[in-house]
Amino acid sequence: MLFRFSVAFCLAVAARCLNAQQIVNGQIFTPGIAIVDSPQPNTPLGGDYLQVAIDVSSDGQLQLPPYPSNPKSAIWNITIFLSSYVTGWNFTISNGTATNGSLGEIMQQENGSTVKHVNWVWPDCLVGTGPPSNNNSARGLYNVSIRQNFRLNGSDEYTIFDLPIHITNSIPAKNTRPSCASLNNTLWNQSALVESANNFTRIPGTPIQENAKGGSEGGLGVAGMLDWRTGLHVMWILAAIFMLAL
Ligand SMILES: *[C@@H]1O[C@H](CO)[C@@H](O)[C@H](O)[C@H]1NC(C)=O
Ligand SMILES: *[C@@H]1O[C@H](CO)[C@@H](O)[C@H](O)[C@H]1NC(C)=O
Ligand SMILES: *[C@@H]1O[C@H](CO)[C@@H](O)[C@H](O)[C@H]1NC(C)=O
Ligand SMILES: *[C@@H]1O[C@H](CO)[C@@H](O)[C@H](O)[C@H]1NC(C)=O
Ligand SMILES: *[C@@H]1O[C@H](CO)[C@@H](O)[C@H](O)[C@H]1NC(C)=O
Ligand SMILES: *[C@@H]1O[C@H](CO)[C@@H](O)[C@H](O)[C@H]1NC(C)=O
Ligand SMILES: *[C@@H]1O[C@H](CO)[C@@H](O)[C@H](O)[C@H]1NC(C)=O
Ligand SMILES: *[C@@H]1O[C@H](CO)[C@@H](O)[C@H](O)[C@H]1NC(C)=O
Ligand SMILES: *[C@@H]1O[C@H](CO)[C@@H](O)[C@H](O)[C@H]1NC(C)=O
Ligand SMILES: *[C@@H]1O[C@H](CO)[C@@H](O)[C@H](O)[C@H]1NC(C)=O
Ligand SMILES: *[C@@H]1O[C@H](CO)[C@@H](O)[C@H](O)[C@H]1NC(C)=O
Repeated sequence: MLFRFSVAFCLAVAARCLNAQQIVNGQIFTPGIAIVDSPQPNTPLGGDYLQVAIDVSSDGQLQLPPYPSNPKSAIWNITIFLSSYVTGWNFTISNGTATNGSLGEIMQQENGSTVKHVNWVWPDCLVGTGPPSNNNSARGLYNVSIRQNFRLNGSDEYTIFDLPIHITNSIPAKNTRPSCASLNNTLWNQSALVESANNFTRIPGTPIQENAKGGSEGGLGVAGMLDWRTGLHVMWILAAIFMLAL
């Protein structure tokens, strides 16, 4: 069994680094409880939908809602935006309230599933093929910006995690696509975003304080957690990736 262990810290250049991340066996550990299973950073994407798979149990360390009252650890909610300083768009993927084009609360979907699969229809201005063809194109570089309101070990936190993607694969035209304007929001500058969020780093493998057992199944508890940390099949390959510039 190979144990390779390296720990990545935020670099001084980006005090609260909105997108510093660690990838363990293809799972992207966010600054929060959620783990992104896919897509990987800088993946070229297209097709009918943006698809994002998010493990909200932190690999079985945290139970699913409903949480007990006053839990030690919980994900209160997750909002997701698709934004780009290059194109000037900031689309709502989910702000908690479903509209024509945006999704309802991510934590409430797929009841009983620890992995939430975001399937979001690309809005109309992203239709096209290949990289942006001119400076007015909406296609190109974006962040899937995943914001978590959560409590870990008794502390409430709000964090922003920006996962870079490339919208360069073919997106077919369809008359059911929502309009980009109907999903667009104001873009904040980086310093305002950093100010708005907590400085929080999650080191993969560190435990999450469990909630008292009772009523809710779903949490794998201590056994699952130890299993995850010491399982025979688990080969630890930790890679520190810093995408401070695209
Ligand atoms: C964020 O936390 C890290 C590690 O705890 C610390 O080194 C850094 O100074 C903090 N940054 C800010 C802006 O508070
Ligand atoms: C993605 O987010 C990072 C910081 O979180 C930022 O530096 C970068 O400019 C953003 N990329 C785009 C395309 O907006
Ligand atoms: C998310 O949870 C936080 C903390 O409980 C709350 O203040 C906020 O209003 C919630 N946001 C949404 C969109 O539900
Ligand atoms: C989700 O599942 C739980 C437990 O299986 C059940 O009590 C609850 O009613 C379900 N909620 C919805 C919205 O289906
Ligand atoms: C896009 O903008 C860049 C920089 O402003 C300019 O050099 C380039 O010619 C423009 N491209 C097109 C296709 O207009
Ligand atoms: C959603 O928006 C699309 C594109 O604007 C439109 O064709 C469709 O009728 C809308 N659906 C509803 C339920 O409003
Ligand atoms: C959520 O996003 C939709 C689509 O952008 C927007 O119409 C709605 O006003 C937003 N709701 C809140 C509470 O921000
Ligand atoms: C998106 O909305 C914001 C706020 O209204 C606006 O400043 C920005 O120009 C819009 N983006 C585009 C590409 O139209
Ligand atoms: C995009 O819009 C949402 C909703 O207004 C906001 O919370 C978020 O900070 C914006 N994203 C960026 C990168 O400014
Ligand atoms: C960022 O936005 C905030 C709030 O809108 C503003 O006060 C601040 O001056 C802006 N900072 C920069 C560097 O533009
Ligand atoms: C949460 O608590 C556990 C067990 O006490 C500890 O090992 C872990 O480092 C804590 N995590 C954070 C982020 O404080």
